[in-house]
Amino acid sequence: MPATHVVDCYDYPQYWDLAFREDTKLEATFIEAATRKFCKFPVRRLCEAGCGGGRLVVELAARGFALTALDQNAATVAYVQKRLRRRKLTANILLEDMADFQLPSKVDAAFCLTNTFRHLTSESQALSHLRSMARNLRKGGIYILGFHLYPPEADLVKIEKWSAKHGKTHVDFMLRALEYVPEKRYETLRFFLRVRSGQRNLKLQSDYRYRTYTARQFRRLLKSVPEFKLLEVFDFWFDIEEPQDFDDELGDAVFVLRKQ
Ligand SMILES: C[S@@+](CC[C@H](N)C(=O)[O-])C[C@H]1O[C@@H](n2cnc3c(N)ncnc32)[C@H](O)[C@@H]1O
Repeated sequence: MPATHVVDCYDYPQYWDLAFREDTKLEATFIEAATRKFCKFPVRRLCEAGCGGGRLVVELAARGFALTALDQNAATVAYVQKRLRRRKLTANILLEDMADFQLPSKVDAAFCLTNTFRHLTSESQALSHLRSMARNLRKGGIYILGFHLYPPEADLVKIEKWSAKHGKTHVDFMLRALEYVPEKRYETLRFFLRVRSGQRNLKLQSDYRYRTYTARQFRRLLKSVPEFKLLEVFDFWFDIEEPQDFDDELGDAVFVLRKQ
């Protein structure tokens, strides 16, 4: 049995990216559908905040969009650039903190899925991120923001397990909620990755702190960013025909915001 390495799992984007790869086509199709539904102009330039291993960047670049993506992890940025070269695709991948950034030029639409926004652990970082995104979007452009909301009386969800396979690489993922501290607005999640790839047999572990949001807390944050208007909310089924009510019942939320 290999020893567990306590690492930053984001330094291993080739494995981490598999965690959500199964949902990539569904999410990319939703992003395309949202731009058609909510933008009054043809959309070509997209931005992803916190792109990770680049599954959505690669998929959307292959569909003909011009992508700019940010990530603060250097291994991740290098990996996405390599992946694009291998597929003979181009995109602009920047080593940047999404809390405060300036893109080379404005984009038509942007997205940030899979709870990445909740890595911004303070209200001031979250606010600064939304303001940066608004500044870098053209007027009438949309920002698609997907993350988990907590109902006011939520209990800790203890453990989730899933697996993914790509070529000779097989990864078992386990997510354990270590603590949920709603009064301080954070939870700590522990990720385990068990990787089997050719001769490689690895056990990786990271703890990440995520900011928590109830519906009311996110509404309040949005009120401080009048540059954005909330258009509709969806859930993780990513069905553009099925907007959801934005209330305490909604857990997995995908917000569509329009730059005013
Ligand atoms: C869960 S991964 C998600 C990747 C991608 N959004 C996806 O859906 O596949 C989160 C990524 O966000 C990046 N990240 C976290 N905080 C960040 C920040 N402040 N600025 C830029 N990237 C950040 C991490 O380095 C990591 O690659």
